[in-house]
Amino acid sequence: MNDTPRQRTLVLTGASRGIGHATVKRFSAEGWRVLTCSRQPFDARCPWPGGAESHIQIDLADPSDTIRAIDEIREKLDGRLDALVNNAGVSPKAEDGGRLNTINTDLRTWGQVFHVNFFAPVVLARGLQAELTGAKGAIVNVTSIAGARVHPFAGAAYATSKAALAALTREMAHDYGPMGVRVNAIAPGEVETSILSPGTDRIVDTLPLRRLGQPAEVADVIYFLCSSQSSYVTGTEIEVNAGQHV
Ligand SMILES: NC(=O)c1ccc[n+]([C@@H]2O[C@H](COP(=O)([O-])OP(=O)(O)OC[C@H]3O[C@@H](n4cnc5c(N)ncnc54)[C@H](OP(=O)(O)O)[C@@H]3O)[C@@H](O)[C@H]2O)c1
Repeated sequence: MNDTPRQRTLVLTGASRGIGHATVKRFSAEGWRVLTCSRQPFDARCPWPGGAESHIQIDLADPSDTIRAIDEIREKLDGRLDALVNNAGVSPKAEDGGRLNTINTDLRTWGQVFHVNFFAPVVLARGLQAELTGAKGAIVNVTSIAGARVHPFAGAAYATSKAALAALTREMAHDYGPMGVRVNAIAPGEVETSILSPGTDRIVDTLPLRRLGQPAEVADVIYFLCSSQSSYVTGTEIEVNAGQHV
């Protein structure tokens, strides 16, 4: 009898930088196999094992490329998927670095933001439904504090896409729950990655904990929501923001 525990598998979008990068490291350290997805080819500097074979190059702003990638991902699975983390996100700025609001956001840009931040999670979760069900897996959608309040730097397209993703999390928890699949969200505040804008330090000065978050601190919460420690948790959105929402 083989009593070696099966290696668990995560599909993670936006793995190349920031919170995604920290998430690969956290899950790999726990013994998970991580299938990484981003627009760039695999970067040989990434230190985790099996990196190149476990990487899927995919442009989530392109709906047909996202649908195409489903088959590529499924071929890399053994019929079971323990977790899907929809982490990739874009937050476009005006050419001068200013905030794009509901009046000056070009509709094409608005649509692209929705493809990456909102529709890609729908397409991936649907496409991998059989595998997620097979493992009684978990889905984590990465939303944002900007989905719940006007943010000084994050634009209107970004904010509305994250609000929609939070609503989607609730809807998906309802629909996937009967299959044994849990669906939750995490909403970061100000985390030290390339997505931050100049001036973030002024926000940080007002936070109860008075400091920026580190990507590894967000990865810890994502890991919790994919682990058996949260086996009775679904349909919730956890704020990971030093108390920015209070
Ligand atoms: N940092 C924060 O303070 C903060 C706060 C609230 C919410 N969040 C959310 O947290 C998530 C991660 O953010 P981050 O700060 O780590 O961002 P980041 O450093 O800018 O990384 C974004 C990731 O998304 C990927 N990505 C972007 N466009 C893509 C596309 N069209 N197709 C495929 N992948 C794409 C990027 O990969 P490539 O460029 O290599 O393709 C990259 O891996 C995002 O959903 C963001 O909205 C972050």
